[in-house]
Amino acid sequence: MKRQLLKIDHLKKIQNGIFAMTLTGDCSEISAPGQFINIKLDGFYLRRPISIYSYGPDFLTIIFKVVGEGTKALSEMQKGGLLDVLMPLGNGFDTAKGGKQPLLVGGGIGVPPLYGLAESLVDQGVIPKVITGFNGREDIILTKEFQVLGIEPIITTVDGSMGIKGFVTDAMKEINFDYVYTCGPEPMLKAVYDTSPDGQFSFEARMACGFGACMGCTCETKYGYKRICKDGPVLYKEEIKW
Ligand SMILES: Cc1cc2nc3c(=O)[nH]c(=O)nc-3n(C[C@H](O)[C@H](O)[C@H](O)COP(=O)(O)OP(=O)(O)OC[C@H]3O[C@@H](n4cnc5c(N)ncnc54)[C@H](O)[C@@H]3O)c2cc1C
Ligand code: FES
Repeated sequence: MKRQLLKIDHLKKIQNGIFAMTLTGDCSEISAPGQFINIKLDGFYLRRPISIYSYGPDFLTIIFKVVGEGTKALSEMQKGGLLDVLMPLGNGFDTAKGGKQPLLVGGGIGVPPLYGLAESLVDQGVIPKVITGFNGREDIILTKEFQVLGIEPIITTVDGSMGIKGFVTDAMKEINFDYVYTCGPEPMLKAVYDTSPDGQFSFEARMACGFGACMGCTCETKYGYKRICKDGPVLYKEEIKW
């Protein structure tokens, strides 16, 4: 993990209140999809954690939703500017554990890190199944991006305005799978946990340092206390205690 200044190469609104930002610089230490960066913004004491959506040795892209002052400031930054980040953080997903056809289940702004995971799996010759869940059609993101990878995501919307009406778990009932990778709001993670034989679950927590020093993001697991920022954000099904 190191602190560095990355250059804002691209910033684009991709959906209502949702932005994609590509940063260039040394990204060679990123070792797994599902890792995140912690961003320092002028005028804000705490950094803001955002997952890595896609990456290469000299770039990374994040996708973020404006929910408060920090993400609003991030969305207003200018191309060519510099962003102070700590990276890479967290363990990320282990692609070796998912078998021949894992299922990826993402909810809302939890979908982007699963796209990075899908990219890695496809590079390794594994074509995963993907379910994405949103409140309504105006919230849907990344369908075309998955299609470019050769994956047709199954979309669910709570209001039924597109795809299957209901929750991601309604779509999961129609699919045979042995292993799930998932990221999204905690009630969704719990519902996916209850319907999956095995898998990896990416959690969010309020974070201060973001690299394991302050214990501010500690949660209890079956194997003792773990820090979501350092020992996670990805936890294995067998260790999760709700
Ligand atoms: C590991 C991890 C990965 C994340 N990845 C993404 C992502 O890819 N895209 C995305 O849009 N959002 C992501 N989030 C959530 C994102 O960090 C929050 O939405 C953001 O910090 C809110 O900041 P704000 O100033 O706009 O909102 P405020 O509500 O004003 O934030 C106030 C404080 O709360 C903290 N905070 C608020 N919400 C969260 C949250 N959900 N998790 C952790 N801290 C929070 C902020 O860091 C800040 O200190 C992730 C969170 C974590 C922990
Ligand atoms: S945020 Fe400091 S230990 Fe996790």
